[in-house]
Amino acid sequence: MRPKTIVTGGAGFIGSCLVRELLANGEDRVGIVDNLNSGRLSNLAAVKDQVETHLVDIRNYEELVRIFAGAETIYHLAAIPSVPRSISEPVPSHDVNINGTFNVYRAAQAAGVRRVVYAASSSAYGDTEVMPKTESMVPRPKSPYALQKLMGEYYGSVFASCFGVEAVSLRFFNVYGPRQDPSSPYSGVLSLFMKSALTRTAPTIFGDGEQSRDFTYVEDVATLLRKAAVAKGVSGQMYNAGNGGRYTLNFLWDQIQKLEGITLSATYGPTRGGDVRDSQADTAAAIRDLGHSPRFSIEEGLRLTLEWYRAENA
Ligand code: UD1
Repeated sequence: MRPKTIVTGGAGFIGSCLVRELLANGEDRVGIVDNLNSGRLSNLAAVKDQVETHLVDIRNYEELVRIFAGAETIYHLAAIPSVPRSISEPVPSHDVNINGTFNVYRAAQAAGVRRVVYAASSSAYGDTEVMPKTESMVPRPKSPYALQKLMGEYYGSVFASCFGVEAVSLRFFNVYGPRQDPSSPYSGVLSLFMKSALTRTAPTIFGDGEQSRDFTYVEDVATLLRKAAVAKGVSGQMYNAGNGGRYTLNFLWDQIQKLEGITLSATYGPTRGGDVRDSQADTAAAIRDLGHSPRFSIEEGLRLTLEWYRAENA
């Protein structure tokens, strides 16, 4: 039996969490498409016998059509993430995030897929005067990455209206949790903070540390992705996938130091280009239309995440 569900970027930090959730909630087998650019097969070690793995780049249209044949749902999470990376290396990030995403939609249509659920980004909002950020606000992307992710949303709604592929986009708000890879300077800030705490090295904070984010625990995002795949009357729409809170980097580094029982001052550096100052999701639409119900507070999420990094480092 071919899998009914395919996750692009399925070996990544968020994708692998989604694969585990799908399998834990009744799927027998899940397919993944991943070129292992940032994903790792070790993320799926515990479930590898139930995963059909395709080590394929999303820019390979013919392969995607072959892999998607017979599938009902595609979760499209494959991307080259990171705002600063999209500024220092704009070509690969444009190519994968825009052309690759176009390919995924086109292949989904050719293969007769029912619905594509797309990982969009809160960065599309840019700096807004009002907090929290609601879906009706005019997007103001400040970086190539933000623009690329916005383009993917627009393609989703156009594939829904012109090509008959159901499409739902979720704007992820700074997802964190176990398996987020801290090995690159472009890694998510909480994974870098955890690594700093465990290795007793000062983290670098870009700017004054008073910028804020709606950090969202990875399992809450995986659950919402599954809900978006089955919700009725939402094709062509975009929703915030956030927790609804907002915390500064200074506060979070303090919290992590407390959890780890250390005192270690951060080093401060210049603000990064393309950086958004504040970010917080209005979750009302996702609650109303998708049944979103985030379960993890920041305290609980940080505790679980740090526990995971401790075990990894042991
Ligand atoms: C952005 C998006 C997010 C998306 C992610 C993908 C926004 C609001 N969020 O995250 O939805 O999933 O891109 O990559 O645009 N920082 C430090 N020290 C470090 C690393 C980062 O101070 O060592 C700072 C950054 O300058 C930034 C904050 O931490 O102010 C968060 O950075 P990061 O984790 O990279 O995510 P965003 O760029 O906010």
